[in-house]
Order: sequence, then C-alpha cells, then structure tokens
Amino acid sequence: MPDIQKKIQSLRDQLNDHNYRYYVLDDPHISDSEYDQLFRQLQKLEEDHPELVAPDSPTQRVGAEPLAEFGSITHRRPMLSLANAMDEGELRVFDERVKKGLDTTDDVEYMAEPKLDGLAVELIYEKGIFTNGSTRGDGITGEDTTQNLKTISAIPLSLRTDIRPAAPLLEVRGEVFMTKEGFKTLNQNQEKNGLLPFANPRNAAAGSLRQLDSKITATRPLSIFCYETGTIDGPSFDTHEEFLNALKDWGFPVNPEIKKVNNFKEMSAFQKELEKRRGELPYEVDGTVFKVNSSAQRNALGIRSRSPRWAIAGKFKAQQVTTTLIDIIPSIGRTGAVTPVAKLEPVNVGGVVVTNATLHNQDEIDRKDVRVGDTVLVQRAGDVIPEVVKVILGKRPKNTTAYQLPKECPACGHEVFRPEGEAVARCQNLSCPAQVKGRIEHFVSKTALDIDGFGEKLVDQLVDKNLVHRVDDIFKLTYDDLVSLERMAEKSAQNILTVIQAAKQTTFARFIYALGIRNVGAHISKVLEKSYAGNIDKFISTSAEELEAIDEVGPIVAETITKFWSDCTNVDVVESCLSLGVQFESVVGLKSNILDGKTFVFTGALTQFSRNEAKEMAEAHGGRASGSVSIKTDYVVAGPGAGSKLKKAEELGIPVLSEEEFLAMIS
Ligand code: IVH
Repeated sequence: MPDIQKKIQSLRDQLNDHNYRYYVLDDPHISDSEYDQLFRQLQKLEEDHPELVAPDSPTQRVGAEPLAEFGSITHRRPMLSLANAMDEGELRVFDERVKKGLDTTDDVEYMAEPKLDGLAVELIYEKGIFTNGSTRGDGITGEDTTQNLKTISAIPLSLRTDIRPAAPLLEVRGEVFMTKEGFKTLNQNQEKNGLLPFANPRNAAAGSLRQLDSKITATRPLSIFCYETGTIDGPSFDTHEEFLNALKDWGFPVNPEIKKVNNFKEMSAFQKELEKRRGELPYEVDGTVFKVNSSAQRNALGIRSRSPRWAIAGKFKAQQVTTTLIDIIPSIGRTGAVTPVAKLEPVNVGGVVVTNATLHNQDEIDRKDVRVGDTVLVQRAGDVIPEVVKVILGKRPKNTTAYQLPKECPACGHEVFRPEGEAVARCQNLSCPAQVKGRIEHFVSKTALDIDGFGEKLVDQLVDKNLVHRVDDIFKLTYDDLVSLERMAEKSAQNILTVIQAAKQTTFARFIYALGIRNVGAHISKVLEKSYAGNIDKFISTSAEELEAIDEVGPIVAETITKFWSDCTNVDVVESCLSLGVQFESVVGLKSNILDGKTFVFTGALTQFSRNEAKEMAEAHGGRASGSVSIKTDYVVAGPGAGSKLKKAEELGIPVLSEEEFLAMIS
C-alpha cells in the first residue's frame, strides 16, 4: 500500500477507535480537540487525494448536498410498535399472558430496557458497511434518511470485526435522541439566532433528523441507542441478550441501563427504580420496555397485528397535567431577554409541584393563544423548565382577551426592542438593574476589557452593596470601597485597582464589544473599529444607512446599534467611561489588501519584530494572525527555535516563511 494510503487508513482506524471508545465503551482516551486535530489531518489528506475517499470514512459525516425530498425505503420486516402497560397491574397481566402463551408456570426471563423518547430508525449494513438508513414511518415504509444518519457520530459507518465477523446483511433498529444537555444548548443557539426554540428533546431530535439539508443535521447533537434487529443474514442468536452483546462487539451504542430480569418481581422493581431515577438520566425516558429474552419463546408467542406478544412498554406517570393560568408576568433575564412566565394554580406534575411555566416569547403566546384565566396543559420533562403546551379551549371563561407583552422593560421601564425576524424582545438599557450583573461580567471578560480577577463573586458583592449600578461605576471604585467588602485583603484591593486602571487603556473594538450591544460580537466590533477609525463620537451619531454601507453589517445589526444609541442612558454611560479615563489605542489603518483573507501563524523566537507587531502588520495588510496551526492556516512564519507549530505546518504541507520573506511580502 502506498504511504499516503497507509496514513489515511491509520487515521481512519484511530478515529473509528476513538469514536467507539467514546460512544460504546463510554471511556474516551483523547480530548475533543485532539480528536479534531486527527480529523482535520484526515480531511486534508482526502482533499489532496480525492480518489482515496471512501464512503465509510469518518469525514463523510459532514453532510451532503440538500435533497428536494426524501426517498422512501420499505422495511424488509415491518417496524412494529409496542402495547402499553399503564400501571403495575397491567404489567402483571402481561407477564401472566406470556406464561399462558408459552404454556408454562415457570418464571420467564426478560430484558428490561429504558424506553427512550426519540424516534425509531433502521440502519442497514451490507458486508459490514452502512449503506442505508430510514425512519420508522408507518412501520412498513419509512423515509430514506441515510445522509442524515451518517452525520451521527455514534452510528458506526462500518462494523468492527475484531471480536466477531460482520454479517453479510445486518439490519439494526434503534432510537435517535437528543440528550437534555444537547437540547438546552441547541435551544440557546436557536434563541441567539432569533429562531423559535424546540418544544422538547423529542421534537428537536425528529426535526433535526428530518432535515432535507444533512449539513444542518450534522450540527445537531444527535445520538442513538440500538435495541432490536430487522433482517440478519448469517449469525443467529438464542437470546436478545446475546444479540445486544453482538451489537456492542460490532461497535453500536447499547444503553448501559439494560438489565436482565428473571421474574415479575424484578420487572416491577426495575420499573420503579427507573421511574425514580428518570430525572437524573441525561436523556428523556417515557417508560421501560420488557422483552422476552429467549428467541425460541419469542417465536412461539408471535405477533398481534401491530405489536409483538413478547414485549410491552411500561409507562411512567404523566408529565403533563392541566391547571389554571392565573397571570402572565414578563420576566427579564441577565442578558436583557424578556420572557413571559405563566403563573399557575399549583399543580403536581410527575411528583413535583409546579407554580410557574415558561411561555417562551410573544410568538409562542400568539401561536397557542394563551390568555389569563385559561385552563392549560402543562408539561414538565426532566430538567427542562415546565412549559405551557396548549390551551384547553373548551374550558375558556368568557371575556378573556389576547395577551400582549408590555412595550417597556419590567425592571427599568425603558423601551424593549425586538429586532425584525427575532423571536425575543430585549431591553438594551446599560443601566437596567435586572441585567447589571450580567452586563458587568461581560464588560470585564477576557475578550472585552479583560479585567483580571474581576470574577462573578466580586460582581455580586459590588452590585449587592450598591457600589456598582452600571459599567462605568467600575472606574469610580476606590480603595475604601473595595476593602469594605467581605474577605477582601488590602493587597487584593490594591491589585484590583491596578488592573482596573490598566484596563482603561484599551481598543475601540474591545470597548464596543464590552458594551454588549446585541449582535455586535468580537468580530463585528473589529469591523466597526476599522470603519470608524476608532472615533466613538462618530460611531454614536451614526445612521442605519451609514452602518449598512459597511461590508458585513446587515440591516438587523444596523437597527440594533441605532436603537442602542437612541437610549440616552447608554450614551451617558459611554461618555462617563471616557471622562473617567478610558482611552483607545490608535487604530492602525489598512495599508494594503495584499494579504486579504490570508491567515498567518507566527512561531519561534522572532528577531525582526515582536509577535504583537507581526499581528498588527498582518492586519494592516488585510490578513489575520492566529495562535494555532490548522488546515485554515495559509502561512507559518517561523523564527529560530520554532517547534511543534513548525512541525505541524510541515505535516499539513503549509508554506513556511522566514521573517525576511514575510517582510518582503508586505513591502
Ligand atoms: S422495541 C418490536 N425498544 O418505542 C418492538 N422500542 O412503541 C419495537 N422505543 O417505535 C421496538 N425505546 O421508537 C423498543 N428499548 C426500546 C425502545 C423502543 C424506545 C420506541 C420506538 C418504537 C416505540 C414502540
């Protein structure tokens, strides 16, 4: 095998192995960033040698061209559903029916599994390679979601064969789901991007898997546990337990909670125990599944019309109940988002008394037409905040009116602002008391003014003691203010004053970012710095047209900025900062575009210029400087003694320049 092919194969094997350790053994051996590095190496080699790309390469998980519609796949064997047992009595009836069907009084062995709340899929492997995947659909025919399923890292693209050989044809069924954590992050991102949040992890998983653009699916935190067979050619299994072990050997994630139970007593104990632990599990579970373990016994029992006689779903208590909505209160978070909260007649939902539920935003209130006085269906799902699912319209009292969130911030009375296309309304007032702590934490953070040692605890103390009300108050703090705080040593107080003093020397970009204007992140701040050449007065009095004329600034950002400056408190805060000594380093003007879009990494002991100067020179000519070498790096400038970065550049085939060569480039 030529060297390059060997290298590619070795990278693929390593990546597959790390995936297996992570998803199946739950025992990762490397960090996420080390994994990313290996992944990028493979990506680069495959880019350079497209003829060596294979369909089961880990790089093939990034998503393919969007589809116009999904094709359909008819399942070789129908994907059945499960009958439900609503309580312990019905579970007992099931066990008795099984015994009767098997004509025995002996205890029957079951495999007890958590019933995950996601969506069922079928994965087909031919000669050990993942070839097709589909959703359950109506049980007979499902949607061909092969490309989307490929993006789920937990799904092996080829079977591991080190423990047992691959079956010529293997159909595996399982549940695609989203962890509670993944769901939370996804919804935070949705809100950040002004999109509607998903109602629950199940909807989020289904919505993510059923995307026509698999590149979107690739960005969603989906996972899978496998639990059943479709058709298998080749090996056969005497028990379900053996089959689950084979799945693990082949590299499929199997839920570690699955347990063998030997009789009804153990079945019932499993059911109770899992229901108790429901909230602690990292994913949502809506019950258990008990499956007869022996394949011979399964065959003897057979199936009813849509569900097997050998399995049952043990349901958990409802997490949805109805109650009365007493009031709707707008609440404001640390980031200025105004969220309507439903005040409820206290009600027990799945063992917890609920008095508040989120209504998310005005669009959600309108969509569900939620009104004060309504009877509403409330849902609590795991750790997720309780929410109002829908209104029971039949129970609506007379004379109710549609609800509108107030136009003023509930904490400070300033006008709230909802950028076009965004779901969330926000208060942009820099001195809003509900946001003070969040704003100050942002103001002092690393990418902003970088005031070292100004942690969350200090912010809490300063705000609680009324020493700081708005960000400019930081620059008014005295030694006496600081030493008056609990557990503040004299030396620490002095240190803090020194770093605050030093932070006054900053850049326009850092300062603008520090203000926390919605949609103005670190990058846009730099763009604005260049456009306004560091002139803050000009920036304050700018118009939406001027802003929109800047490359990279769109109408939403422009509107947010002009709205921000239309609040005179915000102008006042900035002027106060300046009068208290905040100064911007002069901005280096753009000298040429010769390095436009090029990324440089400077490494080693530079002798002609400092690292900071190098960065400024690169930026002055339209380039940018980065701290680490990746496939995105265009050039590495290496001084004497350069080590690992130089080595990496050579591995990735990135051109390496001397300092002189770099200077020649820009002269
Ligand atoms: S077995 C023949 N096992 O429940 C049995 N299903 O109501 C068919 N589900 O469509 C499925 N966890 O989406 C099985 N451990 C588990 C499950 C499970 C969740 C879902 C699956 C299926 C539905 C059946």
